[in-house]
Amino acid sequence: MFSIDKLLRENIKNLTPYSSARDEYQGEASVFLDANENAFGSPLEQQYNRYPDPLQFEVKKRLSQIKGVPPRNIFLGNGSDEAIDILFRSFCNPGVDNVILVPPTYGMYQVSANINDIAVKNVPLTEEFQLNLEGIAEAIDEHTKLIFICSPNNPTGNSIDRTDVETLLANFSGIVVVDEAYINFSRQKTFIQELTEYANLVVLQTLSKAWGLAGLRVGMAFASEEIIEVMNKVKPPYNINEASQQLALQALGNIEQINSWIKEALIQRDNLVLGLKHFDFVVDIYPSDANFILVKTTDANGIYNYLVDKGIIVRNRSKVELCEGCLRITVGTAAENNILLETLQNFK
Ligand SMILES: Cc1ncc(COP(=O)(O)O)c(C=O)c1O
Repeated sequence: MFSIDKLLRENIKNLTPYSSARDEYQGEASVFLDANENAFGSPLEQQYNRYPDPLQFEVKKRLSQIKGVPPRNIFLGNGSDEAIDILFRSFCNPGVDNVILVPPTYGMYQVSANINDIAVKNVPLTEEFQLNLEGIAEAIDEHTKLIFICSPNNPTGNSIDRTDVETLLANFSGIVVVDEAYINFSRQKTFIQELTEYANLVVLQTLSKAWGLAGLRVGMAFASEEIIEVMNKVKPPYNINEASQQLALQALGNIEQINSWIKEALIQRDNLVLGLKHFDFVVDIYPSDANFILVKTTDANGIYNYLVDKGIIVRNRSKVELCEGCLRITVGTAAENNILLETLQNFK
């Protein structure tokens, strides 16, 4: 069964993490001459001359209230992309270990694996974009450290069957990473509340999607205390800058705004689906639990190029396995979606 000691890379198990200047004292102080900062100030209205809190205590405290998870079970990354990379660096031995991906899925898992020289075993989703549990069971070997499940899945938009994910969690002795970047738009509930049940669960979420803060680069990993401790040890000491910490904290106080945007996005998603259905070149629109839809067309390249020419950018996914002919379209504002639909009227 799951044992973090068996899973960890030897060098990470033995790693003495960087000890920052501010880690090395306890108690109150008013004169800080320990970190070679500029003591005179910063050339900005906001004062950024001091290093930020390495463990982002205030942001985690607020997130903890919102998510119902103790701060010790939360890791913050420079986007959830950083959390993905840190999982590779913590658990996967380059040239030795492997991970399982279930394409079509979010592209950074493969890129992170390549950067870290980790072999990828691809077990494609079924035609219904669900897990092939038998295929996954066959692919797992003694060097399989991580399985990435994206739910709702990018680019297909659907949620993965919860019971299938639970089967993996219960049977796989490595880590199951459930990437919930789009969970706020989903009818399914989050896996965060299962952390006490499964020691091998890592849930990823982000402030980049529903929270409207893609530019700040703040992603979250929720996991057992022992996994979070490892991730904190491996991350760069000041991975979330002071401006992002302050602005994230401020934004996290504005849940009403986010909830009303989520509602609006869901309404606009339905409108977009209705509008797209009428076009002859639309073969299928897959059900979405996210803020985008995957649309199968008769001529993805033609439509993509036509839209680019008109200054409208969607994502061409037609070269992706199981997504032949598909465009992925993010739900925009009512005005943006109308421009898209009107422009498509003239596609020949
Ligand atoms: C499934 C999924 N996970 C993670 C990310 C990256 O999120 P972040 O901006 O937090 O790095 C994306 C971005 O598109 C995504 O689609």
